[in-house]
Amino acid sequence: MKQSIDTLAIWPMREADIEQIIKIESASFPRPWTRDHFLQELRSPHAFPLVAMISENVVAGYVCPMQLLDEGHILDIAVRPDCRGMGIGRLMAEKVLDECRKRGAEFVSLEVRPSNTAAISLYEGLGFVVTGRRKRYYENGEDAVLMEYRFDTCKELPDAV
Ligand SMILES: CC(C)(COP(=O)(O)OP(=O)(O)OC[C@H]1O[C@@H](n2cnc3c(N)ncnc32)[C@H](O)[C@@H]1OP(=O)(O)O)[C@@H](O)C(=O)NCCC(=O)NCCS
Repeated sequence: MKQSIDTLAIWPMREADIEQIIKIESASFPRPWTRDHFLQELRSPHAFPLVAMISENVVAGYVCPMQLLDEGHILDIAVRPDCRGMGIGRLMAEKVLDECRKRGAEFVSLEVRPSNTAAISLYEGLGFVVTGRRKRYYENGEDAVLMEYRFDTCKELPDAV
């Protein structure tokens, strides 16, 4: 199904969305999160998981961000395979940055596989920069690339002339 994003809406994740989410998750990751992982996110006071909905009951993608004090973190993000490349991942990530900014975050961090060029390109396009590497982080021994988006480097300078 190729879908226009004109009708897309981003909402807080609901328990009723999880069935569709775990299908997308399984199609997206070698070690997919289970229903319990998503339930945990729904119950966490620090998390604010979101879904991108094509219509009231069709999930096109989801993102699981959390924020602790001034640090935001994206734990999981995926778009339904037949809805990729249409701007949905970018919209969800922008929504997370916006929400973290409102909640007072100084930065938002995440880990990504160096082989995941689509995700790295998405994050770089938004202004994330590489801050380090975590050795052998993933199940296949692949390192994680650490990336960070800092709000201060993007803020307008109030006294700038
Ligand atoms: C990564 C992912 C979430 C991107 O979502 P998406 O909706 O397809 O991405 P968008 O259409 O919003 O694209 C935004 C940017 O991402 C990059 N991008 C997306 N797909 C890409 C691809 N196949 N190759 C290279 N860059 C790509 C581009 O920079 C794009 O900007 P552009 O449209 O100006 O070129 C999606 O590919 C996905 O679900 N992948 C599997 C799960 C995953 O890897 N999650 C990330 C874990 S860290």
